[in-house]
Amino acid sequence: TRYCTCFPNRESLVVQISFSVNGNNVQVDVNPVDRLSDVLRSDLNLHATKVGCNAGDCGACTVLIDGNTACACLTPIAQLAGTSVTTAEGLSDNGSLSQLQESFLRHGAAQCGICTPAMLLSAKALLDEYSKPTRAQVEDALGGVLCRCTGYKKIIDAVVHAHEVTHDKQIPAAGQGVGAAISHLDGVAKVTGELKYGSDVLPEDILLVHVIRSPHHFADFKIGDKKTFIENHEGVLAVYDASDVDGVNCHGVIPPFADQPVFAQNTALYRGEAIAAIVGEPEAIRSLKDDEFPVEWRLREHALTPAEGIDASMDRLHQNRENNILVRGYVEQGNSDSALADATHKVTVSTSTPFIEHGYIEPEAGYCVRKGDRLEIFGCTQAAQMDRDSLADILGLEKTAIRIMPSACGGGFGAKLDISFQPYVAIAAWHLKRPVAICYSRGESMRSTTKRHPSEITLTVGCDKQGLLSGFNFEGTFNTGAYASWGPTVANRVPVHASGPYHTPDYRARSTAVHTN
Ligand code: FES
Repeated sequence: TRYCTCFPNRESLVVQISFSVNGNNVQVDVNPVDRLSDVLRSDLNLHATKVGCNAGDCGACTVLIDGNTACACLTPIAQLAGTSVTTAEGLSDNGSLSQLQESFLRHGAAQCGICTPAMLLSAKALLDEYSKPTRAQVEDALGGVLCRCTGYKKIIDAVVHAHEVTHDKQIPAAGQGVGAAISHLDGVAKVTGELKYGSDVLPEDILLVHVIRSPHHFADFKIGDKKTFIENHEGVLAVYDASDVDGVNCHGVIPPFADQPVFAQNTALYRGEAIAAIVGEPEAIRSLKDDEFPVEWRLREHALTPAEGIDASMDRLHQNRENNILVRGYVEQGNSDSALADATHKVTVSTSTPFIEHGYIEPEAGYCVRKGDRLEIFGCTQAAQMDRDSLADILGLEKTAIRIMPSACGGGFGAKLDISFQPYVAIAAWHLKRPVAICYSRGESMRSTTKRHPSEITLTVGCDKQGLLSGFNFEGTFNTGAYASWGPTVANRVPVHASGPYHTPDYRARSTAVHTN
């Protein structure tokens, strides 16, 4: 089943393209503008080539074409006729790891591993030209591939020292283990590209789901005639919204604060919030345009900063949270005000941090299969048990009826602790009794996931003549977004950590998490 391509009318022009992949001649019947990345993954079942952005920015889809690096997501298949392509599946030497792959293992250069195939291929192109490259040459050669985990140093070390690596097993001598580099247990699957991430496995007879999201920060909405929409779109089988949630239309990683619906009901609280999910055959889903979906919006005054959220004139996002305050955090010992008054020196700093998108290279992806009265969900997650518990509540099923099968996780950094794609595939698979998959686009991932809070911080700290701290006042305001997610943890933990590792006997730290749109 073809999966990721965004060209809808593939059948309208199909040509046969012949080229070689990893030394094997292949012929594919494709639309000439299909992306090489999709042809490799969907037609040729070669999943080591990853898709992180589909825009040539992240470089995760890097392959070699006649020995030169190229982004497979930007390469139309028509350009491949008569060429020779190398993917990470073709890097091993007759079934053994290549020296370069060994070096990645030895240096711990593959952490989550989602960038590793692209890094290896970029490095191979360089090493084929310079067997002992300089550090600067390596940095230049790898510059087109992003890694969000390693900080690059280990990857660069692995390439610089690849020519020195032997295939001998390296086990640290007795007494020399601390600080010695050891290979990750799952390292071999990462450097061969065999490790399976959320979009790398698809059952037969798959359906796809596309989530309709609010384009507005804060708006009431009314969904129109779903039945007519389905009838007018061949291959679309169902549209689900809040009325189709059999259990509780609410989830949250901290149960007492759970406040987030699977589908917004009547009002969307942020731009990117899900209001409905369309399920159908892959070609039908790929052909959809969001503006064809029947929905009417009524915009409301929105708040994007804590100052706007807390303003008395702003509507409450949650009726039980006065002034849109989710929670306050507070830690105090001694008397910081009098200590600051007596301090020889003191300084006040006001600063802010912006919204930071974690930007893991793997977008949220997975599938769900219904087996009798049970559901099995495969995909990327950082919290399988929490996913199971939330889905049981959402579906109205026992926890034992839900099985979470985590794929490899191509980066998460805390943002894949919250559920994301799981309810959409689960609700659809449960009702339609067919496997259902989803793979977020990069834009969808960035719009819909929660990390990380912007903050506004004012800190006054004093010290005596010797430079010992005397007095520490901290005030932090966190823009916690529309729903709680990990906001209570952040607002309560920051006051505990604000002094860092320093002994601060007179200390006061307060924080406030404010809902915004
Ligand atoms: Fe590079 Fe995770 S190891 S993105």
